[in-house]
Amino acid sequence: MSPREALERLHEYTPGERRAGVLKLSSNENPLGPSPRAIEQLQHSAHEAHIYPDGAAVALRQRLAQQLSVPADQIIIGNGSDELMVYAAAAFLNPGDVALTAEHTFSVYAFATNLFDGRVVTTRMRDGRHDPDAFLRALQSQPRTRLVFLCNPNNPTGTYLNLDETERLLQQAPPEVLVVLDEAYCEYMDAADAPDGTHLIQRYPNLLVLRTFSKLYGLAGLRVGYGMAQRQIIHALNKVKLPFNTGIIAQAAATAALDDDQFVRRSLETNRSGRRRLYTELGRRGLRYLNTQANFICVNVGADCRAFAETMALNGVTIRPLASFGLDSWIRITIGSDEQIDALLKALDATLAATDRHADAVAD
Ligand SMILES: Cc1ncc(COP(=O)(O)O)c(C=O)c1O
Repeated sequence: MSPREALERLHEYTPGERRAGVLKLSSNENPLGPSPRAIEQLQHSAHEAHIYPDGAAVALRQRLAQQLSVPADQIIIGNGSDELMVYAAAAFLNPGDVALTAEHTFSVYAFATNLFDGRVVTTRMRDGRHDPDAFLRALQSQPRTRLVFLCNPNNPTGTYLNLDETERLLQQAPPEVLVVLDEAYCEYMDAADAPDGTHLIQRYPNLLVLRTFSKLYGLAGLRVGYGMAQRQIIHALNKVKLPFNTGIIAQAAATAALDDDQFVRRSLETNRSGRRRLYTELGRRGLRYLNTQANFICVNVGADCRAFAETMALNGVTIRPLASFGLDSWIRITIGSDEQIDALLKALDATLAATDRHADAVAD
């Protein structure tokens, strides 16, 4: 017995680190906890835990349809949006086909591609941003491309592609290529020229937009994400979907969270004020960071990021070292609440004092 050859290219996922008694700012979770309306609902739904869920998640899709003005039959629910990335590869990649993605981006795109014997081709980024021209060149030089994974805003850089750049890519992508626009953090975007995938899916028949309840709604532990696309794409994804891929409690809690306007407002405000504060405090410490449109910030610590992360953890806060994303001297920090940022800055100061940093990392 031996596992399939494709498994040689697969690595087990390294999650953001969790240590007892240590503040976790390594996985871009919601610092306010779960939506209170979701908590209330999941307690009611616990009494239905003996029943199989609705495999088609009709109530949740209808509520999303109403909120996003996207027809319910153009929505699919996943066990987290991660699962939908795997479904995209299962449904659209033949062995040897290419999936294009960026050099510093979310690792599940490569995982899903390798799982189905596809080939990952990465494009160079410029100044921490996706380069639409690099994607277009790669589309020409890689005729076997069948998937493009675009993360917007991008994890881990927090940078974004604007509407014009996104549309240029969509217009020039050949019809046989499915573009997966991963908008896991889109609700945090406040740039006036940021795209909104819900407005794009009716115009582009080869676009799949992915979103999640893990971030803004604080439900990462329940595993609910969704995809939106034209019907032929949703139909193909439904064919590879497991019959009961999301649980009854998770579906009910996610549906309730969509009504939690107060929690959404507080989450966005916490993120905006936390971001303002971090820009000031990181700048004051001479640390280079990238402007972010997400709920995390990417910072150049000018030293080996793994050792830096280890010292941060010893000082009470876990952050994400970005060596596995190809960024050896960068870390990613979840934007926390005010108290969490207090703890972060304390740990950061202690860690900076204990770290020899390269001179070029210090901002002017
Ligand atoms: C860019 C991106 N997409 C998707 C996900 C996964 O979301 P989910 O929890 O819905 O699987 C994450 C999680 O951190 C992410 O960073």
